[in-house]
Parts: sequence; structure tokens; C-alpha cells
Amino acid sequence: METIIYRPSDVLKAAQKIQQGELISFPTETVYGLGADATNEAAVKKVYSAKGRPSDNPLIVHVSTIEEVEQYVQEVPEVAKKLMQTFWPGPLTLIFKVKDHVFAPTVTAGLTSVAMRMPNNEVTLQLIRESGKPLVGPSANTSGKPSPTTADHVYHDLKGKIAGVLDDGDTGLGLESTVLDITDPKLPTILRPGATTKEVLEKVIGTVFVDRHLISSEEVPKAPGMKYKHYSPNEPVIIVAGESEIWQKAIKTYLQQGEKIGLLANQDLLNQFQDTVTAAYSLGENKNIHDASRRLYSGLRYFETTDATLILAEAHEKIGLGEAYMNRLQKAAGNHFFD
Ligand code: TXA
Ligand code: MG
Repeated sequence: METIIYRPSDVLKAAQKIQQGELISFPTETVYGLGADATNEAAVKKVYSAKGRPSDNPLIVHVSTIEEVEQYVQEVPEVAKKLMQTFWPGPLTLIFKVKDHVFAPTVTAGLTSVAMRMPNNEVTLQLIRESGKPLVGPSANTSGKPSPTTADHVYHDLKGKIAGVLDDGDTGLGLESTVLDITDPKLPTILRPGATTKEVLEKVIGTVFVDRHLISSEEVPKAPGMKYKHYSPNEPVIIVAGESEIWQKAIKTYLQQGEKIGLLANQDLLNQFQDTVTAAYSLGENKNIHDASRRLYSGLRYFETTDATLILAEAHEKIGLGEAYMNRLQKAAGNHFFD
């Protein structure tokens, strides 16, 4: 199959493909998604096979209005109304109890709940409206690889397997949406941290819980996706937490072991150390968590094009957006820290 790169002005052509049951990757403010008609079982099955995604991992349904959610879920609790009014369109996915038979069975992978989100990207909102359907949209990467933040990343993973990619440049945030379970409205629980942080959620709805299962790998997490190896490039990743002296020690240690080091760190550290390593990719300004989050996945992917045999990646403090950044980085590294 030929995979076409569509410009934003081609959005109607891309919507036609969706209506024909084909797969179109779409841009969002977080990462690129792999879109298909959420009411078409054959189309949804193609999403799982194109990604190589385990069939027990349910998909997020993307909508273009707040109002239509009522058609799909059993009840829209007050907390959900507040959250949608405050944060949609934006990087917040909400888990509701799903109505029977509104989506293709494979969307929810056998669960009685469904994940819903309204992405903040004009072209994609138009794609959803023009398709006239809600769209599933898992991240448009091969399962297990870092999520795509450019149309090129999508093309690299899925060319020949999908009908097209709607190219709207780099995604802004770079990490997937926050997943918040509100099936029990009294116990709103973060299943996956993202750019809509616990702190900002609590300003709107009060206490929010965090499912720590997503940190420890032994237990079965509520967001099935969190149990799989994730976000991983081909090379092993080791997290380095600390200032220059620690980096110096880490680099020396792995050079002595004969490793070719890929350095994934802020620009100040690159200025200091890039001449001593095989490859380097900047996470942006020192201590800037927004830069680091936006650049993490493209950085992890970058080293596949170099000779690096090992990636040393910079830790951030787990506050605000740092919680989501470290969640993804710890998964990419299999929780391996340099000490
Ligand atoms: O930012 C995002 O959310 C991106 C863009 C493309 O919208 N999408 C995305 O989808 O990250 P995906 O499929 O890669 O991740 C969806 C996560 C998985 O961890 C999945 O297990 C969880 O949401 N999930 C989906 N439905 C669920 C449900 N009913 N209950 C609990 N977790 C669910
Ligand atoms: Mg994903």
C-alpha cells in the first residue's frame, strides 16, 4: 500500500479514506495518533495489526465536541463536565462507563469503560468532523517504540501499512495525554501522567489520586497499556540524575566498558561533554522541562541513526510536567539509573 503524506489543505481527502475504513495518522498537541473509524470493526482491527499492538490494550476515542460524549457513555458526571469545559480541547483523556454497542467491540478490548479525548489541533478536529465519526487514535508508532512527534516518525514506522499521514509539523507537547479514570466520580485517578498535571486538575475538582501501579511493574495496572515495555529505542537507556561531576563519572564508566555513548541532555551538558561521546541530542535549555518533554521521543529515536550503543539520558524532578517526563523515561530505561 502506498502511504500518502497529506497537507492540512488535503484534510477532506484524508477524511474520505477514514470513511472507506482506511487508516490515517493525524497530528495532535501531544503526539501523532493512528486514526480509524471507531464504529468500524474491520478498520479498528487494522489499527492493532499495523501497530503490532496487543489486543488487550484498549484505544482512546477522539471526538470533536464535548456534547457528543453523551451519545457514547452511560453518564457524564459533574466532575467530567467541569473537566471537559476547562481542559478540552487539550491533553486530558477521561475514562467513562461505555454504552453498549456504540463502538466497534475491539475499541474497548473487552472493558466496560472507554477512554475519550478531544485533541487540540485544528486540522484533526476538522478531520473528525468531516469523517462524521469518532476516531480511535493510539499513538502512531510501532508498539513498544517511542511515540511519534513528527510525520516523519510515523512514516518511518508505518509506511506501506497505512493509507496516509496528515502532516501538520511537530507536535507541541511531545508526551501523550494524561489519562484520568472518572468511572467512580468520587475517586478521580490518574492512570497515566501527562501535561494536564495533578496540580492543575486539583484546582478544578479537588483531590485527585494517582495509580501507583503504573510505576511498579509487578502488579496489573488499570490502564492496560502501562504494563508493556514502552517508549524504547533499540539501544539501552540509562538515566543520569545529577550535575556535571556525575555525568563525567557516568561517561567515563561506560567508555571504559567499550560502549559508544549517545548523550541525551540539556544544551549546557552537551557543550561540556559532546566531544567525548559518539553522538549527542539536545533536550533544550537547562532545567526546562517543557523543552525536554517536547524533545524526549525525537531524541530517543535519533540515536537509531547513529553508532551509539547506549544512551545516557537526563533526569528531571518529578514535579508538574516532570512527573510525565520521568514516567516515560523510566519506562524507556526499564528503570535503570546510573549510580
Ligand atoms: O496523547 C494521547 O493520548 C495520544 C494521542 C494520539 O491522542 N494517544 C495515545 O493513545 O497515547 P495510546 O493508545 O498510545 O494510549 C492509550 C492509553 C493506554 O495506556 C491504554 O491502556 C489506556 O490509555 N486506556 C485506553 N482505554 C482505557 C480504558 N477503558 N481504561 C483504562 N485505560 C485505558
Ligand atoms: Mg502509545
